[in-house]
Amino acid sequence: MVSAGNAQSGLVWLVPEVGALPRDASGMQVREGRDLITATYAHIGPNVRDTSRRYAGNNLACTNCHLQAGTKKFGLPLFGLFGAFPQYSARSGNEISIEDRVNSCMTRSMNGRAMPVDAPEMQAMVAYIKFLSSGVPSGVTLPGMGAGNMPELDRAADPVRGRPVYARACLGCHNTDGSGVRNSIPSSAMGYMMPPLWGPDSFNNGAGMARLSTIANFVHFNMPHGADYLNPQLNVEEAWDVAAYVVSQARPQKAGLEHDFPNRLDKPVDAGFGPYADGFSQQQHTYGPFAPIRAALEKLRSEKK
Ligand code: HEC
Ligand code: HEC
Repeated sequence: MVSAGNAQSGLVWLVPEVGALPRDASGMQVREGRDLITATYAHIGPNVRDTSRRYAGNNLACTNCHLQAGTKKFGLPLFGLFGAFPQYSARSGNEISIEDRVNSCMTRSMNGRAMPVDAPEMQAMVAYIKFLSSGVPSGVTLPGMGAGNMPELDRAADPVRGRPVYARACLGCHNTDGSGVRNSIPSSAMGYMMPPLWGPDSFNNGAGMARLSTIANFVHFNMPHGADYLNPQLNVEEAWDVAAYVVSQARPQKAGLEHDFPNRLDKPVDAGFGPYADGFSQQQHTYGPFAPIRAALEKLRSEKK
């Protein structure tokens, strides 16, 4: 169990325990949602027998990124966020529901197709995410959300420097070619023991994890597997450079990314795809340094007002 105290409110909140739920219809739906998040590939992956249930386009599991089934601080947790939806999405330029947000990971992180809102699998995942917000008062942001926020570098992150870091600290699990290690033969719906970081069965270039700041912070605070925010294993520089090395590798490309962030001034500085409002190169948007871009965007925003 992970505790998540909140300094302002004095609230001490613990991730609720799925096993404590009654085995009634709603308790079983939450369990099913947790299973979908921990073994996504076995239920809605590209190799499941029932082709109508093939929503995910790769054999990842949500929990490969939303660590410990969405309960790990700074491991992209899924707790405490249900009440924040619907919310404005800068990426789509309009208000989105929690189902839209799940589908955003389905079509990008999972490189798949959107699920209908009334699909039983969607409803179960949302029931689990809602359960992970049990007892969180509305408007309260729990500590530990996202993937953390380490200092940035003054220089561009460097794939060439990241390569030996990968060889030393990642390759033993994620494989020489970043393709991970399967649980069983590739055509089975058994997923990975060690998930791929690039290549055809990885997240696509429109995914949050494809953005340098997201993957660098995620790696700093969670990798090698077992590290956490209290005990990072890589220093800040190594984390940025190894993230740059992973980002520089080939992965599935999502069509239509030019429609993301219709208000270009709201586009994250580290979006690796154009168009951009600020005149900086795609190279600098991909690897940094980001401070000059941020300053230019701030200037453009104040001019607009
Ligand atoms: C490859 C990594 C990865 C995988 C796999 C993945 N996600 Fe995500 N997810 C992310 C990242 C990164 C974010 C934050 C995105 C951002 O920076 O905006 C996110 C955000 C979310 C959010 C919003 C969280 C918030 O704080 O508002 C939800 C809900 C979510 N994912 C659900 C899922 C579900 C359900 C699955 C499986 C079907 C899944 N994700 C698979 C990386 C992943
Ligand atoms: C001891 C084995 C191990 C090592 C070493 C390791 N990882 Fe991981 N990594 C994992 C596992 C296992 C997961 C999936 C997490 C889960 O399901 O709990 C993961 C998940 C990830 C993810 C998100 C999922 C995905 O497929 O994209 C990224 C990114 C990642 N690791 C990057 C790295 C980097 C970079 C390094 C080196 C600094 C590294 N890892 C070192 C085992 C490892």
